[in-house]
Amino acid sequence: MSENRTKVLVLNGPNLGRLGTREPEVYGSMTFDDIVAACAVLGEELKMAVDVRQTDSEAELVGWLHEAADERLPVVLNPAAFTHYSYALRDAASQRTAPLIEVHLTNPATREAFRHESVIAGVATGTIAGFGADSYLLALRAIQGLEDV
Ligand code: DQA
Repeated sequence: MSENRTKVLVLNGPNLGRLGTREPEVYGSMTFDDIVAACAVLGEELKMAVDVRQTDSEAELVGWLHEAADERLPVVLNPAAFTHYSYALRDAASQRTAPLIEVHLTNPATREAFRHESVIAGVATGTIAGFGADSYLLALRAIQGLEDV
């Protein structure tokens, strides 16, 4: 049954594994596991095989983007702080062979100046920011819409 499902990688960068305890006044009380569960529930509804991963390592995140490029997998990517300075991640995202949606829990444009630039945005299909965990769910729906085209 899962063979017919669109596989989607939901990739998360540094410090996102600490959601729930990390600055709850900024990021809310939802844990990373809560986001994994919400993506799984929507994945069932959308008939997608959603694989949610998190790492604090730039190298590991780059490797996952290579995997997505090689397997032509759509990606939902929250690069976390790498958003703002990782040209290595941008170069990996630029090799994408399927849609890549950049997501953020918060709206970086409303925060500190160093968060206003995304080096990923220019190679992403689109960006969804500021909706908390719903940013991920909106991105999965966007990918489904693009796949249907
Ligand atoms: C974030 C925003 C980034 O600026 C920050 O470094 C994060 C989380 C977000 O989801 O709002 O770690 O990507």
